[in-house]
Amino acid sequence: MKFIIGKENIKKVKADALVLGMLKGEGLSGDLKEMDKALGGELKTLVESEKFEGEEGKAVLLGSTFGRAGVKRVLVVGLGAKRGFGRAALRKAGIVSAKRLRKSSASIAFGPRFSNKPGYVKALSEGLYLGAYEFNKYKTNGEGGSRLSGIILSSDGLTEKRLATETGLARAVGESTNLVRDLVNEPPVYMTPTRLAEIAAGIAEEGGLKCEIFGPEEIDRRGMRGIQAVTSGSDQEPRFIHLTYEPSKKPAKTIAIVGKGITFDSGGLCIKPADSMRTMKMDMAGAAAVLGVMKALPALKPRVRVHGLVASCENMTGPGAYKPDDVIRAYNGKTIEVINTDAEGRIVLSDALSYAAELKAAEIVDMATLTGACIVGLGLYTAGLMSNDAKLAGKILEASREAGEKIWELPLDDELRAEIKSDVADIKNAGSRWGGAITAAMFLENFVGETPWAHIDLAGPAYAEREGEFYPKGGTGFGVRTMLDYRLGL
Ligand code: BES
Ligand code: MN
Ligand code: ZN
Repeated sequence: MKFIIGKENIKKVKADALVLGMLKGEGLSGDLKEMDKALGGELKTLVESEKFEGEEGKAVLLGSTFGRAGVKRVLVVGLGAKRGFGRAALRKAGIVSAKRLRKSSASIAFGPRFSNKPGYVKALSEGLYLGAYEFNKYKTNGEGGSRLSGIILSSDGLTEKRLATETGLARAVGESTNLVRDLVNEPPVYMTPTRLAEIAAGIAEEGGLKCEIFGPEEIDRRGMRGIQAVTSGSDQEPRFIHLTYEPSKKPAKTIAIVGKGITFDSGGLCIKPADSMRTMKMDMAGAAAVLGVMKALPALKPRVRVHGLVASCENMTGPGAYKPDDVIRAYNGKTIEVINTDAEGRIVLSDALSYAAELKAAEIVDMATLTGACIVGLGLYTAGLMSNDAKLAGKILEASREAGEKIWELPLDDELRAEIKSDVADIKNAGSRWGGAITAAMFLENFVGETPWAHIDLAGPAYAEREGEFYPKGGTGFGVRTMLDYRLGL
């Protein structure tokens, strides 16, 4: 996507479309009023007939200016209430603009309101990248990628340098998020652990990251028996991925982010019913989010060393499949009794988290589509956060608000720990239904040692069965922006 600064007046600028923002209840004032006058009252008629009041996420399109302005069409987007107006509203306006105009327009001009404070252009253009996203490569007549380009009309001192910096950051965040969406949307026959690892290697190559990938022999040699158990019913090879971002200056600290990368979850021998199995290609969304963060880091250049870890395999029912009643010794030596082969995510994460704990990171954060129980508790649109460290949890919650991703904390509960106590091993992989998201987290807690750790269960928001106002159908890219904000204060 290309961005340029436009110095023309909104009536003169030449573009396929002009976007103007309206605060809730503000009516037609300022630029809107000026444009309405030039168009002989057409905007007023449109806004009134659509009963449009500037609500966030809404927009009305004037399909033609009939030559009365330099642009062909005018989109009025809602910016929500004046109180609280800022970057989040601008990002949403960007998403809505791209969604409405991506098919019919190439060049879009944005009124001065979108650029008159530092950070505004970044938020707006981030939204444009996100809103332009489409996944149609498997449609025979699918269209090519978006042709959108932005003209940022600026009356104040927006410089070329600031434009380049802000749109550059937005591009890193937007393109990484869109990569995560692609990875999740790809069918499972294509997005295997091997392919995921190839993509990770490509990200490392491009961004100058350190990259280690373990195949079945290395996983065996290192004693990652959790991954070995879960992969045993599949004819696809497992992969353990370790990328490292090293800042150019001495790092202020080291963190590890860990993702669940089950490229298809059939449930294993405790097989899922058909309706629950559909969409289980998305069970690698945590891993995809980790790769998305790693892809963005070289452009954002934080002074933090970041380890990105992914445990990836399929959960299938082949002849070698692991079974209920099996006992597995995880990477850190703890033994796990298998109660349910469909609680496989926590088993592969037991290896990945204990590997992360060895890296002497100051903080470990994992992202996993771990439990249906989390969806029962919080609904489809909010991720659960569980942590052994209140300070770390607070930082992530704050970042999620900035990022516009909904995350809510659930407690770890000592009394619930009894649910995963095993008679034959150190711990068992499933308890009763009650508090299922929490007992899953408390299972994971066994593998992080003393390290401050937080677990994000994104089973709900990682994948959308229907398109939302601010995210596409399918993979949403959830988690990338929160993790980047938490790390970088962007
Ligand atoms: N991948 C699923 C969780 C999931 C469910 C993600 C729905 C996204 C949407 C996970 O591996 C799983 O099957 N969890 C079981 C655990 C149970 C067997 C203890 C669940 O939630 O039912
Ligand atoms: Mn499962
Ligand atoms: Zn799963």
